[in-house]
Amino acid sequence: MSKHLISPSILSGNFLELGKAVEMLNSSKADWLHIDVMDGSFVPNISFGIPVVEAICGASKLVNDVHLMIVNPEKYLESFSKAGAHQITVHYEATNHLHRCIYAIKELGCKAGVAINPHTPVELLYDILEDLDLVILMSVNPGFGGQKFIYRSLNKIETLKSEIVSRNLNTIIEVDGGVGLQNAEKILQSGADALVAGNAVFSDPQPIQVIDKLKSIGL
Ligand code: DX5
Ligand code: ZN
Repeated sequence: MSKHLISPSILSGNFLELGKAVEMLNSSKADWLHIDVMDGSFVPNISFGIPVVEAICGASKLVNDVHLMIVNPEKYLESFSKAGAHQITVHYEATNHLHRCIYAIKELGCKAGVAINPHTPVELLYDILEDLDLVILMSVNPGFGGQKFIYRSLNKIETLKSEIVSRNLNTIIEVDGGVGLQNAEKILQSGADALVAGNAVFSDPQPIQVIDKLKSIGL
């Protein structure tokens, strides 16, 4: 069995048929369901809010992987937890009190993650790494699906992976942005544990097969 996890991003799904998109993911080999929440302030785009997240989580049988691209995420942690998030990731760049935020997520019973933008060095996470269940390394500038993978991200994956391994931690590295069949193997070889895929899955007429192929890499 492959060890890596696949987290398709519903942001690239057809919003008129969100239920069908979730059912498709439920019946696929996806491990997590990635839910991108954007506030039009932290990122230059607005996606969807708490009621929509609640509807998605209610229909999902997967691990609900909520990625908050919002300022002051601490204000909304409880709402997203109640909406059905199993893991909540906040941005390093979006809060002044990351440690407090991580512990607030854990107290809600969710796994806690921190995401960093492409310009943010992984070393800035070292003082908090032991407290994290996952790190989302953004390999595009957050805000939109369908962008091109920034190749320098591979170095960041390698650096973070060796730090995690050297400290004997279980922190999951999730790579988010521009991931598809063309580069997934290289990203996994660099040390990623989980792959987000939006456009690669939903723009394909056979999304279940794309997920299958992403999941089978390295088998
Ligand atoms: C970008 C989001 C990503 C995005 C991924 O701001 O965080 O999760 O939906 O989409 P693709 O795979 O199309 O780059
Ligand atoms: Zn995301």
